[in-house]
Amino acid sequence: MNYTSSPGFFRGRIHHRLRAPSHSISMSALESFAKSPGSPAIDFADVRKHYGGKTVVDGLSFHVQPGECFGLLGPNGAGKTTTLKMLLGITSPDAGSISLVGEPIPERARFARRRVGVVPQFDNLDPDFTVRENLLVFGRYFGMSSGEIAALVPSLLEFARLENKADSRVSELSGGMKRRLTLARALVNDPDVLVMDEPTTGLDPQARHLIWERLRQLLSRGKTILLTTHFMEEAERLCDRLCVIEEGRKIAEGRPHELIESVIGCDVIEIYGPDPQALADELAPFVERMEISGETLFCYVDDPQPVHQRVKGRAGVRYLHRPANLEDVFLRLTGREMVD
Ligand SMILES: Nc1ncnc2c1ncn2[C@@H]1O[C@H](COP(=O)(O)OP(=O)(O)O)[C@@H](O)[C@H]1O
Ligand SMILES: [Mg+2]
Repeated sequence: MNYTSSPGFFRGRIHHRLRAPSHSISMSALESFAKSPGSPAIDFADVRKHYGGKTVVDGLSFHVQPGECFGLLGPNGAGKTTTLKMLLGITSPDAGSISLVGEPIPERARFARRRVGVVPQFDNLDPDFTVRENLLVFGRYFGMSSGEIAALVPSLLEFARLENKADSRVSELSGGMKRRLTLARALVNDPDVLVMDEPTTGLDPQARHLIWERLRQLLSRGKTILLTTHFMEEAERLCDRLCVIEEGRKIAEGRPHELIESVIGCDVIEIYGPDPQALADELAPFVERMEISGETLFCYVDDPQPVHQRVKGRAGVRYLHRPANLEDVFLRLTGREMVD
C-alpha cells in the first residue's frame, strides 16, 4: 500500500491515532525527548522490511540530529517511501529498531506523531474542501480547537503564499499550490520534525524554488527535516547530510560535498555529438574515466586541457566543462540506466 493507492488511509490513520488531547501527550513526548539531550531526532538501526518474499529495506541504519536536513536518495523502488512509512509507524519493520523524537516506533508512534509534520509522496488533500477548510480539518486531528486553528490559518496561508486562495476549493489549485498547501498543513501542529516524501516532484522550476526557500526558512527556525528526493540539485542545496539507498541498502552516506569529492573527485566534461563511442576511443588516453549515456559522453578529468583542445571547434560537437555534482555521484553509484 502506498500513499497514492489509499488517500483516505492516511487521513483515517491520523484521525484514529491522534485524536487524544494535545497538551497531555505533547508534554509526555517533550519530557521523554528532554531526558536524552543530544539524542537524534530520528534513528534507524539495522531496519529490515519484506513484502511477500521480497526484501524491500535491507538492514538500513542512519540517524538525523535535531536541526539537520537529511536526504534519502535512491532510484524508484529503492525503499524510500517504505522507510518513511516505518518511521511514522504506518507499517512495521520486520527487524531492527526505530526511534522518532526519542519515542520507540511503532510502539509509541501516535505520541511521536504529535511532534511531526508529514508531506506524503502524493497529495491527499480533500478536493471538495477549500484551502482554509483543509487546514481546519487537519488541525482537529491534533485535538486543536477551531479557535486555535483559525488563529494560525493566516500565517500558514502566508507561508504557503496562498493568502488569496483561502476560500478556493483544492480542486481549483495548481500542482504547486497543492504542494504548498500540503506543506502548510504539515505545519499545523508546529512540528519539530518534518518528514517529506518527494516534496517537489512534478513541480515546475518556479514552484520548486519557492518550496526550497520555505524549507530553508523552516531549517533556520530549527526544524529537523527528513526528505526523499529525485532531484540532486535539491539534495545538494538543502541537505546537510544524505544517504543513497538502492534495493533497500545504503550504498553511500555523507555531506553532499564530501560525497562529490570522495566518489567523483574531479571535473566533468560532457560532450554531445553524433558518435560518442568514436569520441570515447579518441579521448580515452586523456581522461580518468568515461561513461556514455545516450548521445552524451561524460569525461571525468583531472586536467581538462587535452580534452578541450581536441573537441573545441569540432563540427557537430558541443561540450560543457563543469565541476562534479551530486547527480554524477548518484549516477555513478546507481548507474546511468533509467530505472522505472
Ligand atoms: N505494500 C506493499 N506490498 C508489496 N510491495 C510493496 C509495498 N509497498 C512497496 N512495495 C515494493 O517495495 C519496493 C520499494 O517501494 P517504495 O518504498 O515505494 O520505493 P521508493 O519510494 O524508493 O520508490 C518496490 O519494489 C515496491 O513495489
Ligand atoms: Mg516513493
